[in-house]
Amino acid sequence: MHPILNTAVKAARQAGKIIVRSFDRGDTLSVDRKGFNDYVSEVDRAAENEIIQILRHAYPNHGILAEESGEHTGDEYQWIIDPLDGTTNYLHGFPQCAVSIALRHKDKLQQAVIFDPLRDELFTASTGAGAHLNSRRIRVSRARRLDQSLIGTGFPFRSMDHLDNALKTLKELLPRTHGIRRPGAATLDLAYVACGRLDGFWETGLKPWDMAGGCLLIREAGGLVSDLNNERDFIESGEIVAGNPYIHPLLLSVVQKHYQ
Ligand code: IPD
Ligand code: CA
Ligand code: CA
Repeated sequence: MHPILNTAVKAARQAGKIIVRSFDRGDTLSVDRKGFNDYVSEVDRAAENEIIQILRHAYPNHGILAEESGEHTGDEYQWIIDPLDGTTNYLHGFPQCAVSIALRHKDKLQQAVIFDPLRDELFTASTGAGAHLNSRRIRVSRARRLDQSLIGTGFPFRSMDHLDNALKTLKELLPRTHGIRRPGAATLDLAYVACGRLDGFWETGLKPWDMAGGCLLIREAGGLVSDLNNERDFIESGEIVAGNPYIHPLLLSVVQKHYQ
């Protein structure tokens, strides 16, 4: 494993320990409201501090973009961190959450770790070196048609701007696919596309830390990731469509039709 990825794995595992320790104690945690349906707990903050401390110790000059503490300026390398993806699930004791850490150099993603501490599943990717789950190589699925596919998404829950678009897309996709899943942690949804558990995924209103790690995983696993215009701008736009090379264009055309 690339030494820099090793450091990110160490940070993700340490954050995972903090997350597991308080799982099932969601109702006793101190929680602040960031906005409508948007919460941050002491666990999100503790996990983020731990990750930043480990990365900073190893790479003091790198910049950081972290969900809870924002941007810390640095050199041309930037760590993009979601310390606890799936906070709503976590606060309800619903077991689907992850830590996501990605490293970008200028505009290019180079390293990715997504760690599910409740299942002890570690997804990793380095540019040009493939994607792995617990050290075994992963590939996207081979489904060729929507009627062979299982699709993931995230329903709007903070801003309702795209609620109608999402519902129209669901209405078209539900009878045309094996089903739609909304597990509640976008980083893991993307990791599941990378390992073939999902054949495709779309969501809008995401942030860079929801997408960066999963995007590199999917590309390194042979899949496609784009924004709604089939461009590479999704980290900025927050709108993402992902899938294996057969399902991505099929899903994109359905999504495009309903998100005009
Ligand atoms: C959220 C989760 C969720 C997605 C949201 C994200 P958070 O992240 O990934 O699945 O639908 O858009 O913001 O707030 O739990 O880190
Ligand atoms: Ca997130
Ligand atoms: Ca988060």
